[in-house]
Amino acid sequence: MAVINTDIVFAKKLLEEGQLVAVPTETVYGLAANALNEKAVGLIFSVKNRPSYDPLIIHLYDHSQIENFCQNIPPIFYDLYNAFCPGPISFLLEKSASIPDQITAGSTKVAIRFPKNTLFRKLLKKLDFPVAAPSANPFGYISPTKAQHVEDQLGAKIELILDGGSSKIGLESTIIDLTTDPIKLLRLGAISKEDISEVINIGLEINKHSSSKPDAPGMLSSHYSPRKKLSTKSIDSLLHSYSKDQIACIRYKQLTKLIADDNQLILTPSGDINEAAFHFFDYLRVADQMPISIIHIEAIPTEGIGAAINDKIQRAIA
Ligand code: TXA
Ligand code: MG
Repeated sequence: MAVINTDIVFAKKLLEEGQLVAVPTETVYGLAANALNEKAVGLIFSVKNRPSYDPLIIHLYDHSQIENFCQNIPPIFYDLYNAFCPGPISFLLEKSASIPDQITAGSTKVAIRFPKNTLFRKLLKKLDFPVAAPSANPFGYISPTKAQHVEDQLGAKIELILDGGSSKIGLESTIIDLTTDPIKLLRLGAISKEDISEVINIGLEINKHSSSKPDAPGMLSSHYSPRKKLSTKSIDSLLHSYSKDQIACIRYKQLTKLIADDNQLILTPSGDINEAAFHFFDYLRVADQMPISIIHIEAIPTEGIGAAINDKIQRAIA
């Protein structure tokens, strides 16, 4: 069992000793280590059971030290930083020699993010090293949006979970590669293509990969998966193969009459796409723990963060 509290002094001590600490962010909880400590970073990979070819995002308090870690930073970085940071966006930039190859899985690019959660920011401000942090879930499983989610799965392997409440956004950061021409959107998140296009009026390509050799290896097609089967097929068609009580439904805003109310989770009764994102991973976990055989997910609108939710659903099904 890990301790769950808000003790950033203890968190700092653990990180300085080369240990891991689970940290709250506005997107999902992260599993943090000193990015410059090879042993500590090695622990991230072993605790998560994560393959070493999957690179890690570096978390910083603000841009004041960015030139220690990146080089040839394009001016659009500062435009996007001023518009969205601290916030749910990660930038791929050319790395400098100070970033270990272990962090980038050998790539010459490093992902940098400036998270918004107040407690995590207080901790980052106290540290004199950058923090590497992937989502704090076992590799391939649903990302955690509450301290208890981390405790349920990794509590036996870490000492401290900093409790910053529920992650306000609930889906991982948008990842954008600023080293390519045109620049590329690698992972959809809370900051949409439209949001970015409002700030910079240059070409922007969406590059969502699902091949075996993606630019962002963690974006493998099979990801974010519950243990139970997940389906977007119609409930009617599922009822040919399953009984009513074998099906759990994650609904957008309304109950269906086809399944008992107790087996249904409503993402957003008021029809707010951001609220749907906030509940999405949590409800996927809740459904996964029900005594059912298959989880049905209703179609989600694709506006704003809805594009990112739909992307997660496709990867979870793959
Ligand atoms: O919102 C987030 O970004 C959360 C919170 C904790 O900050 N972090 C997160 O990390 O989602 P992770 O490791 O679960 O997913 C980040 C993905 C990696 O799987 C990897 O594909 C991609 O970012 N990535 C990181 N560094 C990269 C690099 N140098 N080149 C290409 N892709 C990279
Ligand atoms: Mg992850």
